Amino acid sequence: MERTEVLEVLKTKKLGTETLIKGWVRTFRSNRFIAINDGSTINNLQAVIDFENEDESELKRITTGAAIEVVGELVESQGRGQSVELVVKSFKIIGDSNPDEYPLQPKKHSLEYLREIAHLRPRTNTFAAVLRIRHAMTFAIHKFFNDKGFYNIHTPLITATDAEGAGEAFQVTTIDLKNVPLDENKEVDYKQDFFGKETSLAVTGQLEAELTALALSKVYTFGPTFRAENSNTTRHLSEFWMIEPEVAFADNNDNMDLAEEMLKYCISYALEYCEDDLTFLNNRILEEDKRKPEIERSGDLFEKLRFVTENDFIRITYTEAIDILRNCKPNKKKKFQFIIDEWGADLQSEHERFLVEKHFKKPVILTDYPANIKAFYMKLNEDGKTVKAMDILFPGIGEIVGGSQREENYDILLQKIKDQNIPMDSVWWYLDTRKFGTVPHAGFGLGFERLMLFITGMGNIRDVIPFPRTPKSAEF
Ligand code: 4AD
Ligand code: MG
Repeated sequence: MERTEVLEVLKTKKLGTETLIKGWVRTFRSNRFIAINDGSTINNLQAVIDFENEDESELKRITTGAAIEVVGELVESQGRGQSVELVVKSFKIIGDSNPDEYPLQPKKHSLEYLREIAHLRPRTNTFAAVLRIRHAMTFAIHKFFNDKGFYNIHTPLITATDAEGAGEAFQVTTIDLKNVPLDENKEVDYKQDFFGKETSLAVTGQLEAELTALALSKVYTFGPTFRAENSNTTRHLSEFWMIEPEVAFADNNDNMDLAEEMLKYCISYALEYCEDDLTFLNNRILEEDKRKPEIERSGDLFEKLRFVTENDFIRITYTEAIDILRNCKPNKKKKFQFIIDEWGADLQSEHERFLVEKHFKKPVILTDYPANIKAFYMKLNEDGKTVKAMDILFPGIGEIVGGSQREENYDILLQKIKDQNIPMDSVWWYLDTRKFGTVPHAGFGLGFERLMLFITGMGNIRDVIPFPRTPKSAEF
């Protein structure tokens, strides 16, 4: 007999049919009711066993966490909480689980505890829900771009270019660290390293995405990126996934339109296809809210999601934002950790969140930042001091998207490379494209886990990726 997944059983409700189920035992009550979950849906299937006809030693093996196979007939449920249940004809334990050792008891565990047992946390409702939503969002993003005629490009993960210029890259080397080869200046001799030059894990795929956009017009990447920034926050990972579209013959306004449309599409997709999992996560949030003071409450997840799909994002320049921030209450009362008094200041997440959560109460797109706080590739405005950048700020998250129109003018780009002391041998190929049929083009990067934070309502980025990498943590 072929296995049927629980999702299918609960959807089709074929009463009277003999069905084979395989999954893991969540609970076993009164020697009679087995709640089985196979991961296809948040919902368990209840199997009802007639214990008087079963071998007692076999019944004892039905424990939380055990893998089980059950054949039975699907009937309308007598009890409350489920519409159908399986009357067990036969069952077999596929894999035992020692109940005294299994770390996931049928009770609520803290997210912190679950992080310590990340090898088992996919077996909890919360993480299984997050993982299914993560899959749905991956699919939605590919669908969004595919439907618009974009091509997915695979950019290298090993690179010799520090594209964001932040010096936060993880080095890639096969040099024997106990016996480092030195050159005549007593510097590390990377000529003897694997690639014959200094290399690192990519912080972005953008530069290569640009090369391909200048041939295929509309491209996007979706891959892992790596940053060795020592930020131990609820919004930063050392390994995270980024989506980077790049469009030729497009300016920064087109860029903002695309980003806003994409974010709304993803959220609508989740609302349409992830209802069960979102409902579960929302109930969890509302439950937690009851224990929190009013200002710390998250509020209804569905309302927050719909709010974004139903409202236009606010678009303002950095200069306008600075005016708002300079004159706002928390700045005047010195409530911010970083006081804003001058144009040119880099915005911290406290400022971004003030604009989004307190001032506008809507997602905000900030544009035209000072050139000197942004990466070298951003297109310089006519004023000579700001660049055509755009960052999208979300409630509860801060920056979710960062992007810009790119500098397509050869001479200006060359000057910026020189001004920022970027080694020419690491970017000559990038500059080269500005000599042959250069065109205005623009793109952005969406942090996938930040999107996941917003959609799931989870509070910590470590809980929306299966196996998080953060400073001092690379277990599992
Ligand atoms: O703003 P960032 O650094 O932009 C770039 O890397 C550009 N090359 C993108 C482009 O224009 N093609 O990063 C983009 C986004 C951020 O807005 C944020 O959502 C996310 O990536 N991000 C992180 N997410 C998790 N952990 C980190 N350490 C992150 N750093 C950036
Ligand atoms: Mg950024």
